[in-house]
Formats: sequence, structure tokens, C-alpha cells
Amino acid sequence: MFEREIAKSIAAASGGAITAAEAEAALEIPKEKKMGDVALPCFKFARTLRKASPVIAKELAESLSAPDAVGRTEVAGGYLNFFFSPEALCRRLAAQADRDWSATAGEREGEGRTVCIDYSSVNIAKPFHIGHLSTTVIGAALYRIFAYLGYTPVGINHLGDWGTQFGKLIVAVRKWSSLGEVESRDEYFLNSLYVRYHKEAEEDPSLDIDARAWFKRIEDGDKEATAYFDVFKEVTMRAVGRIYDRLKIRFDSYAGESFYNDKMQPCLDILERKGLLTESDGAKVVRLDEWDMPPCLLVKADGATLYATRDIAAAYYRAKTYDFYKCLYVVAYQQNLHFKQLFKVLELMGFEKAADMEHIAFGMVSLEDGAMSTRSGRVVWLSEVLDKAVEKARGIIEEKNPDQADKDAVAESVGVGAVVFSALWNNRIKDIVFSFDKVLNFDGETAPYVQYTHARCASTLRKGGAFDLAAADMGAICSEEGIDVVKCLLSFEDTVRAAAKTREPCMVTRYAVELAEKFNRFYIGHRIVGGDAGATNARLFLAYMVKNTLKTALGLIGIDAPESM
Ligand code: ARG
Repeated sequence: MFEREIAKSIAAASGGAITAAEAEAALEIPKEKKMGDVALPCFKFARTLRKASPVIAKELAESLSAPDAVGRTEVAGGYLNFFFSPEALCRRLAAQADRDWSATAGEREGEGRTVCIDYSSVNIAKPFHIGHLSTTVIGAALYRIFAYLGYTPVGINHLGDWGTQFGKLIVAVRKWSSLGEVESRDEYFLNSLYVRYHKEAEEDPSLDIDARAWFKRIEDGDKEATAYFDVFKEVTMRAVGRIYDRLKIRFDSYAGESFYNDKMQPCLDILERKGLLTESDGAKVVRLDEWDMPPCLLVKADGATLYATRDIAAAYYRAKTYDFYKCLYVVAYQQNLHFKQLFKVLELMGFEKAADMEHIAFGMVSLEDGAMSTRSGRVVWLSEVLDKAVEKARGIIEEKNPDQADKDAVAESVGVGAVVFSALWNNRIKDIVFSFDKVLNFDGETAPYVQYTHARCASTLRKGGAFDLAAADMGAICSEEGIDVVKCLLSFEDTVRAAAKTREPCMVTRYAVELAEKFNRFYIGHRIVGGDAGATNARLFLAYMVKNTLKTALGLIGIDAPESM
């Protein structure tokens, strides 16, 4: 925090020998408090300035006119350490008292820039399982984080609504059920037909022949086949929509794979024209040996197009439709190769935005006894996880706070929040082994803990009434615990910007927990309401800032903040 201002003052003190950008890049946050809040390791400039680092530190210190947030500086060996002034920090915080807390209130770094975010991207006829949780909540969090910073995010659900599985489902429905039954039952019923199909197809290969024929009829626009297809899509979207409602997620576009049926040919033409397509056993591929990748298969021998072909068409479509600044794909690292191939092919095609495409990879979710598989039916459904979490939250509320108003709504917020949090706690790339116990654990570093801290602030503010900042004695929040909270509050915007830059929503999650922990440490040691008026005003103000910042942070990662619990 304040690195930019400090860097400027260093540049000025160096008489231009060090630029502000160089200084900012060199600044560090020391691990130990006694080394200051920010430190400049001067050895980084020893070579260019041709001086020993302690000399540089000393000279800079002598001519430095530091920003007001810095109370004092200290030369320690080759380091120049900056210590923030508690009074200045409180002044900075007070200046934010009337700030805007809305979902788009952050620094406007993204003004005029559209970011496409391809996330969740469910497959039709497959119910939502916990493997889909990460892409959904990471994508939605990035969406809100970018919106907060003034970007224009476009949420795209690139539906998996094309492929031979639809032929298989038609065969299954005709053999073991009916269109009417599928329509009136839920997505699990549809999935059970799919599972049964795979079991029986192992014994009876003729099923696959029928399935291919049915898919061909879908491709040809045959009425009967399309009727099945539409019902599958509707049943799935109904179910998925319920999950999105619970997660409070919306998409700006549901243009999925089938949407690109008539948009691939122009792309294939470009590939052809540029001489990028090679025949291989009747199929058309783009060779990528030069980049150590297997060829990218785009048209099969029977003329069928593929997942990659649709993604190429989608890239062109998005560029034309949204004129994006970046196009992000929030998809498991399992598809690393697919995206590397896709981006390379686009680059070879001369697609002008090829360098603005990014695969936002994340780790895999597996079960304690191995990988999940929809085909074998070995999966944990997300709605089941949400229900269990909400039920548990409801039990705890019943036990600890039986007079709680809106028990159902609070239980929903806490239960769903706990599940969302579990997928946003770690760096994206980390694999997750799903365990009910872990997700349903409400103690320690969890969403309920943060939500509870938020509710604690809200209740303190209700008890304390309105505060008067003009009459506040800021010394009452300048204890070590108090200043820790103030510093943490002041670093919120930096945290959100860093989360956007690294595409890591977990930075916001961890921030929320850290702020809650710091506030609780302060809360235990300091009486907020009922002391002398000046102190009460300052402490209520602190509780007010913590409450709003926690709510905003939780909002960014898609977690509710109930006013009481
Ligand atoms: N439906 C795909 C899957 O479940 C993910 C699609 C990701 N988006 C894309 N444009 N390829 O694996």
C-alpha cells in the first residue's frame, strides 16, 4: 500500500537516478513489523549507481521527502525502511468514510475495456456436479472483480450442446423411456438414461451405430431429432438455472457449441487460404510440430467438425461482437493442450486478438476414492452439496440462535457461502479432493467465520447508533491491533487490483479472512460501545468500515453477508 507514492518520493530523492517505476518494482513488504511497513532493498541499485547499498540508503534517506502516510524512515544496512504514521493512516481512512460501496465502486482502471469471460460452460444432459463448481465460482468472481474495477465483463456460458452424446441419449430415451417422461422428470433421470446407455453399449455395439445415425439426423436438422434435442436442452437448462439462482450468477450470453454450426466455414476458408490445413487420413488438421504440439484436428473424415473448430469460430465471433480487451477461458488445466493449440492456430490464422486470449486454468476436483465420472455415475452433485450445507447451517442456527429472524434465508446464505468459499480459498491451480467434512466445516478460515464477523460489526453498529467522525478520537484505534485493522482496510483496493491482475479471486477470499481475524483481535481487546464518546465514535467508525469492506469483499466472491446470524 502507498507503494506508488513512496516510489515517487524515492525517484525524486535520487535526483532521477532511479525512476519511480524501478523504485516501485523494488519495494518489498517486510515479513517482520520492526523492519517497517515497506522497505527498499538498495542493493538492487548498487550496480547502476556504483555505490554500496548502505550508502544509497543513507543518501536517499537524507534527501527524501516522503508522503504523509510515512511517519518515519530508518536506514538498516542496505535497506531503507518506511514506517507508516498511525495518525496519517487514520486520516486516510477517515477520508473514505463516505465512499461508494457499490459493486462497481473500485478504481476505474478498466474503463472502456471489455473482458469476455467464458465460464461454467456446462454440458447439456449432464447435471451439475462438484467438478463444475470451480469454473462457475472462479468465473463469476472474476466477472464481479472486473466489474468492480470499471471493466465491462461479458459472461459467456459456452454450452456443450453439440456432439454424439445427443444421439446416444435419443437412443436411450426411445428404448427405455419417452420424450414425455423425460420432459416431466428432472436432470437426474436424463442422466440415468445416459449412464444406462453406456453400460448397455458395452454389450451391444449396435447402439452406437444407432446413436451416430440419430446424431446425423440432428445435424441435418431433422424435425423428430431436433425435438429430442430441444427437450434435453430445456431439462438441463431448467436445472442449471436453479443452481445459478442459488449462486446468484447470471450470464450475458448462452451462445454454446451449436450456436457456431453455421459460423465455422469462414474460419475453415481462412485456414485453407493460408495453407494451414493438411489432409491426414481424410481428416483436416493444422500441424503444430514446430511448436511441439500434436496436430489440431478440425474436420473429421466424415466432415464432422470438432470442439476446437467451434472454439475458433467462437473466438472470431467474440472479437467481432464484443471487441474485447481480453478473452478469458476459465477451464480446468486438463484442457491446457486444447487452449495452447487453439491460441496457436488463431495466431497462425492472423487473428488479431490471438495475444489477448487467456486460459485461466484451475485444478481438478476428485473424490476421496478417485476421479469422478458421469458415465459411470460416480459423482457428487452440486445441488446435493448445497442442500447438505444449508441443512447443517440451519441446524446450527436452530441450536445457537433460535430467535434468529429469516432462518431459512440466513441458512441459505451461510450454507451456500461455505461451499463457494471452499472453491475460492486456494490458488486456482491447486487440485482439490472433495470431502463433505471439509466443505461443511464452519470453523476457522471459512465463509461462516467472515459472515459472522460481518454480522458482529452490524450488531455493534446497531447497538452503538450513529457515529460522529468529527468528534472521534482516532487515538482510540491506534493501538497495535487497531492499526493492523486500519492498514488492512486501506489495502483493500490494492488487493482487488492484484486479484484482477493475477486472475486469482482467492486473494480476495484470503483478504476477507485476514480482515475478519484482525478485527476480531481488536474487538476482544477494546470495548467499542460505552467508553468515552471520542473513543466510541472512532471505534464505531472502524466497525463501520470493517463491516462494509467485508460485505464488499464477500460480494466480489459471491457470498452473502447477512446482517445478523
Ligand atoms: N463444456 C466444456 C467442458 O465441460 C468446457 C467449455 C469451455 N469453453 C470453451 N470455449 N472451450 O469441458
